Amino acid sequence: MSLSPPNDFALCELVQSEFERMFGRAPESILRVPGRINLIGEHVDYQGGTVLPVAIGLYLMASVARLDVAEVRVWSGEWAGENRNPSVIDLDVLLARKGKDSWLNYIIGVLSGLKAKGISIPGFEMVLVSTLPAGAGLSSSAALETITALAVEALTGESLDVVERALICQQAEHQFAGVPCGIMDQLAVAACRAGHALRIDCRDLSMEWIPLPEEYALVVAATGVKHALVDGEYQKRREECAEACVRLEVLSLRDVSFSDLESVRAQRLGERLRKRAYHVVSEVMRVSAFCEALKRRNVEEISQIMRSGHQSLRDDFEVSCPELDALVEAAYRFGPPHTMPGSRMTGGGFGGSTVSLVHVDRVADFKSHMEAAYRHEFGRCPQVFATRAAAGAEILSVYRGTTFSSKRTP
Ligand code: GLA
Repeated sequence: MSLSPPNDFALCELVQSEFERMFGRAPESILRVPGRINLIGEHVDYQGGTVLPVAIGLYLMASVARLDVAEVRVWSGEWAGENRNPSVIDLDVLLARKGKDSWLNYIIGVLSGLKAKGISIPGFEMVLVSTLPAGAGLSSSAALETITALAVEALTGESLDVVERALICQQAEHQFAGVPCGIMDQLAVAACRAGHALRIDCRDLSMEWIPLPEEYALVVAATGVKHALVDGEYQKRREECAEACVRLEVLSLRDVSFSDLESVRAQRLGERLRKRAYHVVSEVMRVSAFCEALKRRNVEEISQIMRSGHQSLRDDFEVSCPELDALVEAAYRFGPPHTMPGSRMTGGGFGGSTVSLVHVDRVADFKSHMEAAYRHEFGRCPQVFATRAAAGAEILSVYRGTTFSSKRTP
């Protein structure tokens, strides 16, 4: 059974041939960065909580080669729109763009962050090819930031520590794209390992890789409702959590317990902030319980934790939407229960995707079930695909038209 469309080799070939077509020469390096889902631990990274993302087999790929002028020329069929020529970034200026070109801000932000670290950025040409849909809650922005940093590393021989690189990418997103994201996505797309979930403690940025049961595939269902974290609701949630911390007199909600939420001081929160805080406190506990359940392979517990995680995001944190709720409900109607142990929305919410764990033998049936249920309710088909836990970012070398992997692990 093929679990990740389209096959990786075809994508490697495409990113090389597109470079040759666009720039009339062969690339020096090929880079590949996956998307991610998050199994549990949503909207807690910016409160110092723990998260459990997994890299998936949908990728952003880049081919790059040095240039003798202080410019970065980028071509992406997906983002270029009407433009038939590469976009040009002046390395001496590195000014943020507005309007149609604003996707370049992720690249400009990373280049600027690397420059601030004292890394001398060479001119280069880059082609981007992607199977990772933008706005589906699968971390296409973090992939773009990370691939930019990797391009510079591949061309200069610099090698950044995985945490240092993720922090530069996160800053780029804050300062140049206007999204006040946490650190989960940038670390996940870089540091995940095949066959494993990555437990990140977002306070001290320590990481643990936990093996996933081989008999289950990850099935992603994209609602087609574009989530745009720039739109302000994400920032609002961050501000509400920060305000709850002020009222509870703590540094982060990770330090808060259920009994604190029953205390006299917690009365200062009011209903809305109490719900937000309750989500974070309960979600942090769900991550610990999930990791334990995973290690013990307790499928029933996993199911229950994912279900209550979704309900908490829907009712207390209020970041779900009818399309996500319908997909999760449809997933839980698929039976018998051990064939679909758990399902929930994944990522920032307000649209985007759900993730379900599905027994490998039932993936095709599950896909049809989800498509039919969604079509019945919303009159259109969701994008549903099955994948496995994939490897994080890789620099691939080019050797006489064939690529071979030289994986960097943190
Ligand atoms: C987005 C952000 C992450 C994280 C999730 C919610 O993906 O980029 O930092 O906050 O939302 O868990």
